[in-house]
Amino acid sequence: MSSPHESAAAGLDSGAASVTPAVAVVVVAAGSGQRLGYGIPKARVPLGGEPILMHTLRGIVAAGVARQICIALPKGDGELRRLCEEFSTELVDGGPLLTMVDGGATRADSVRAALRAVESGTDAVLVHDAARALTPETVFHRVVNALAAGAAAVIPVIPVVDTVKTVAVTNGDDARIAPEIVTGTAPREDLRAVQTPQGFELATLLRAHEAAESFDDEQSAAITDDAMLVELLGVPVHAVRGASQSLKITTPLDLILAEGLLEGPLGIRWVEG
Ligand code: CTP
Ligand code: MG
Repeated sequence: MSSPHESAAAGLDSGAASVTPAVAVVVVAAGSGQRLGYGIPKARVPLGGEPILMHTLRGIVAAGVARQICIALPKGDGELRRLCEEFSTELVDGGPLLTMVDGGATRADSVRAALRAVESGTDAVLVHDAARALTPETVFHRVVNALAAGAAAVIPVIPVVDTVKTVAVTNGDDARIAPEIVTGTAPREDLRAVQTPQGFELATLLRAHEAAESFDDEQSAAITDDAMLVELLGVPVHAVRGASQSLKITTPLDLILAEGLLEGPLGIRWVEG
């Protein structure tokens, strides 16, 4: 980062830079949670008796890296807006500014809506899925430290434990045996599962999202994270260690895992690996 500011995050993790950029965290919480199947927006689904989004927000505040948190909410969701406003009043003086915006039809639309509300003077943005409610503070610190050290883009990753294969839809005789046929095996040592928060120099992320606005429907549907857009610009994306407890709550099984992490004997927010 070229214009670092003093920040509360300085010195929070081993090897931390002495100064860090002025950071806004964009929280995308506008999804409908189809795969979770609760019939209400996923951010409002209870986890340990509280809406998922509240865990996410508390984790961000605890990490101490943000001077602003911009939350993209499902359009017209008065309940989530009220919860965010309540949360905002509980923040101590000097805590982050909370800004709520209406999200869009796709995740990228929601990111763009939140980016429009980022305060001037911001150097870097972390884009974070509300659904990764239990992300440990150390992951936020690793991402911000990489930005402070000069990265324009940084993502948290974990190794892939399954063998991953590519497949194609079968036709002809093969279609009578199975719907898909294997076309190859990806080299697992080169593969990483990607998480959030993903950190970017603000100008780089804005440029990446501007380019994506002209995508057709098929191209838009293929965009599953922000780093993809930055990769298309040819900007190097750096990878730091993520954490398995940063799991994205997507299916009912994920919610059971998250409940278990909250209640488990190890306690939350320090389990690594
Ligand atoms: N998201 C968003 N706006 C959208 C779609 C998704 O802000 N239009 C957010 C979700 O709220 C979530 C994150 O992007 O925090 C990752 O998306 P995903 O896990 O797919 O959540 P949903 O889209 O809500 O779930 P589903 O795809 O099962 O409907
Ligand atoms: Mg989705």
